Amino acid sequence: MRERVVAGNWKMNTLPQEGVDLARAVAEAVKGIENVTVVVCPPATHLLPVSEVLKDTAVGLGAQNVHWEEHGAFTGELSPLALKETGCRWAIIGHSERRQLFGETDQGVNKRIHGAIKAGIRPIVCIGETLAERQAKNTFAVLEKQIRQGLNGVELKGFGGVVIAYEPVWAIGSGLTASPEQAQEAHKFIRELLSELYDAESAANTVIQYGGSVNERNAADLMVCKDIDGGLIGGASLKVDSFTAIVRAASLR
Ligand code: PGA
Repeated sequence: MRERVVAGNWKMNTLPQEGVDLARAVAEAVKGIENVTVVVCPPATHLLPVSEVLKDTAVGLGAQNVHWEEHGAFTGELSPLALKETGCRWAIIGHSERRQLFGETDQGVNKRIHGAIKAGIRPIVCIGETLAERQAKNTFAVLEKQIRQGLNGVELKGFGGVVIAYEPVWAIGSGLTASPEQAQEAHKFIRELLSELYDAESAANTVIQYGGSVNERNAADLMVCKDIDGGLIGGASLKVDSFTAIVRAASLR
């Protein structure tokens, strides 16, 4: 059966000590929930202390970005090697906030994915359409371009398997969730495209998360969808009870 992954994207929230406390509480709360890989992605400033807290737990640690070079003159970027040494085994790549606010492109996303895999960091690659793109009926074309360019030359099975997070931009932080039907339709399209670009088996094994205003109330209906394999959770990942409820919903599918 395909793996499920629920990852908390804390974005630029929590102070270091709050992050440590949150990570500890999450690790405790999800203990015993089976069939789901749980990951938290704190701000880069907290990775080291959070890594200490998660060391002997089942919860994985992820960064919110990763550069493609191991070191060099790249002010403000995160070295994949350094992340690995800090205890990160995961990295979110190409989040829509990075794309929209910081000018990240599919080409850059592609380089970051390659850099992560080379260092032994499992990428969570975010794709998704804006509201205008959906209204113009361009959703599938946008997803296809993001996948074709973002995954160019990437081995899907690389380092534990590339994870795709389908996150409609209009659903992120807006309280507007895609309906289970809308989400399933997009996930099915993504899986079929992966099957065409790679092969049926790789596509069937690839984890495709849904993200965008997932909370403890809507998670069950989303997680039950055939092609939804967990979630990338923003706001609700900052609350232990909500996050745990989502993890549990993903485990029940
Ligand atoms: P949200 O964020 O759950 O707060 O909508 C999701 C994300 O940005 O990954």
